[in-house]
Amino acid sequence: DHRRNAPPPAPIVRAGPVILSIPVPTPDGAPGPPVAVQQPTELAVFSYDQHGQFHADASSLRYWHPPAGYSAVAGQAGTAGTPFLHPSHPPPEPHLIDLNAQFDQYTPSANGIEPLDNLLRGLVDGHVWPFNAGKDVHVVTLRGIATKFLCAPCDNHRDGWELGAVRYNGTVFIHEHVTAARRANEKAMKSDSRRARMVYWGYRFEQQCVLNTLPAEMAESDRVRAEEERRTTPVNAKAQFCSVFTTKIGSTRLVMGAEVDCCLDTTATGKRHYVELKTNKCVCPPGDHRAWRAKLLRIWAQSFLAGVPTIMVGFRDNDGVLVDMQELSTSDLPRMVRGSADAWDPMACLRFAANALEKVREAVREEGVYYVREEM
Ligand code: A3P
Ligand code: MG
Ligand code: MG
Repeated sequence: DHRRNAPPPAPIVRAGPVILSIPVPTPDGAPGPPVAVQQPTELAVFSYDQHGQFHADASSLRYWHPPAGYSAVAGQAGTAGTPFLHPSHPPPEPHLIDLNAQFDQYTPSANGIEPLDNLLRGLVDGHVWPFNAGKDVHVVTLRGIATKFLCAPCDNHRDGWELGAVRYNGTVFIHEHVTAARRANEKAMKSDSRRARMVYWGYRFEQQCVLNTLPAEMAESDRVRAEEERRTTPVNAKAQFCSVFTTKIGSTRLVMGAEVDCCLDTTATGKRHYVELKTNKCVCPPGDHRAWRAKLLRIWAQSFLAGVPTIMVGFRDNDGVLVDMQELSTSDLPRMVRGSADAWDPMACLRFAANALEKVREAVREEGVYYVREEM
């Protein structure tokens, strides 16, 4: 189409990276006013196929269908000390899912750091970009980066920021800055065999919970065949479905792209009920729930930002056997941690993110290329 064939814009000539420092507050920082957040609206979708090739469509969208014998029980908020977890109830032996299956045959995802290129291509192909002046989009970025902003004030184990920002036509595009240290860290993670196996469990769980077609629209025999097929098909983590959406956090209007694991159904208005899939080690009382509460922050931030209302958690034992499943509502997560000593406060997170976004916009006032990192 005409936009794709148009000559590329003149290169941005402003050199000299500007370093912006964003001090990170402590979780017990002074409370401030609430931050208004707008419900995300989907603008476009795109997919990566099994070969990692881009398609401006929903071809890689998957539908929730748990493995036979498992059902996702609605999670309970419980008390603060033990957020929740009823005793696990694994299905009988023939149904038990070992997430290690076909580990040696899997195709890993392209690589750790996702460039902005494909989000931009999704915007262009979806006729969402160039933005018209009235829309006033301040920031374009990936959901993963916004998640970092959101988690920063309450996450003790986060990695620092190394971000790049480009201001073009009044909009600030924020992407991850790939440093040598980060690349080395990625490499180290890949050579940690226990870690690599846990990453695989996450992907295998995703694969075992979805079908290519809405299960309700399948004949029983086709569904049984599809269930059998996914048990015997190696995982391909290259295939992905992505949603492009707009939302507003404080004064900043954002357009973001996010990978979405699957959906439950489509409402009459055509809006999809998206679902985030997660694995976690089985958290059984009276154990320590600290790590789980910290992970809930990241799950909440990730799902909240993209307007994903439902999270299906697969609990696995130390050997990667799926022993339980739970359905959580994104909006319930803050309540599950409230009252515990290490609770995180969603409003503190939103205040910080709104402020950080404003600071980036302020610093990146003129057209050009910038480097954003935090004050250490
Ligand atoms: P789990 O989250 O169940 O461990 P996502 O949940 O964001 O859709 O990601 C799907 C899976 O990709 C994860 O499953 C995990 O296996 C892997 N993954 C995602 N982010 C990762 C990271 N930063 N490091 C290692 N693995 C990651
Ligand atoms: Mg995912
Ligand atoms: Mg997931």
